[in-house]
Amino acid sequence: MNKIDIVVTTNFGLEAITKRELLALGYEDLRVFDGKIEFKGCLRDIAILNLNLRTAERVLINLASFKATTFEELFNKTFEIDWKELIPVDGNFIVQGRSVKSKLFSISDCQRITEKAIITKLQETHKISWFEKSGDRYRLEVSLFKDIATITLDTSGDGLHKRGYREASYKAPIAETIAAALVILSYWNPDRMLCDPFCGSGTIPIEAAMIAKNIAPGLMRKFDSENFFFMDENFYKEEKKACYERIDYEKKLEIYASDISSAAISIAKNNAELLGLEDDITFFEKDVREIDLPDEYGVIITNPPYGIRIGVEDAPELIRELGKLYRTIPTWSVYAITADEDFEKQFGKKCDRKRKLYNGRIKTDYYQYYGPKPEKK
Ligand SMILES: C[S@@+](CC[C@H](N)C(=O)[O-])C[C@H]1O[C@@H](n2cnc3c(N)ncnc32)[C@H](O)[C@@H]1O
Repeated sequence: MNKIDIVVTTNFGLEAITKRELLALGYEDLRVFDGKIEFKGCLRDIAILNLNLRTAERVLINLASFKATTFEELFNKTFEIDWKELIPVDGNFIVQGRSVKSKLFSISDCQRITEKAIITKLQETHKISWFEKSGDRYRLEVSLFKDIATITLDTSGDGLHKRGYREASYKAPIAETIAAALVILSYWNPDRMLCDPFCGSGTIPIEAAMIAKNIAPGLMRKFDSENFFFMDENFYKEEKKACYERIDYEKKLEIYASDISSAAISIAKNNAELLGLEDDITFFEKDVREIDLPDEYGVIITNPPYGIRIGVEDAPELIRELGKLYRTIPTWSVYAITADEDFEKQFGKKCDRKRKLYNGRIKTDYYQYYGPKPEKK
């Protein structure tokens, strides 16, 4: 496998930010679509991407794309793929399916036909009649869109939002990938103070600290492709080593994270400790109404409670409180993600910019209030 077709999937709304990450990693000729970015690469790139991408959801290899309006076409084209190069004799392969605006609309039938074609081909090449599937996982997907079938192999396994540090979470946690995107989209830089007054499990401050110290998001977890039989085991070893070498252990940070719930603070502290970030983030229990911040060009990035997810009665009132806090710190910038469409009304000011993002399936907006540029000291 020299050149491979790579597909990086993202949450809707994050494509441009993931593209920015890919460009920063040195990738070129990127084709951006809704929810995915495609480009050419090699197997080492699979390790690089899984370990380093902060805002992407999965890294897939596109094995084939073809027109399929009948099950026979789907079977034959799937059969043509050289499966023995992809799945070992004991490989635990599973086929997932999707179909949108296509003649082959029954997802379970598409999955069944695709799996049958793979098994028939592997039976020929491996000369066995029964697949125990007792080995490593190979997640495949057949997805039909307007009669074009695409067969992909998922190299990530669990979604990339699972970093491995959030062993526990408090109510309504934000996805780690989105939290990272919020930080990247803000004008915060690691020399400025950062505060999240509704920190819950600590996802936003933890992602910010990881970005500031250049800690690769994939260092604490495993990826399915680490065990793929065609993957050179040195790729992950070498790329992990390179990630460790890039960590800026010395970077001093001023990150404050608070929440009204002591349970949330204890979970957030534990999560930060798992990454060795306990000295970089100051966690404390506090009602947003009592927060007192120095007027020093800091940045608030936060995810206030909203009704849909945790049934909070006083969610609008808490946004009013956030607005009040903002008016006491005129040099600060405030960034808030919420599904509450009346946010600006409660907050008491129109934002400078609003950006639509999806937190899972929930449509949210990212409200951005830019403070003045810090004065040079
Ligand atoms: C949407 S959650 C934040 C989730 C967080 N971003 C995470 O990833 O876990 C909102 C948080 O606001 C907290 N909260 C509710 N009322 C509060 C108040 N009056 N002051 C401070 N925090 C409050 C809740 O305890 C909850 O953890």
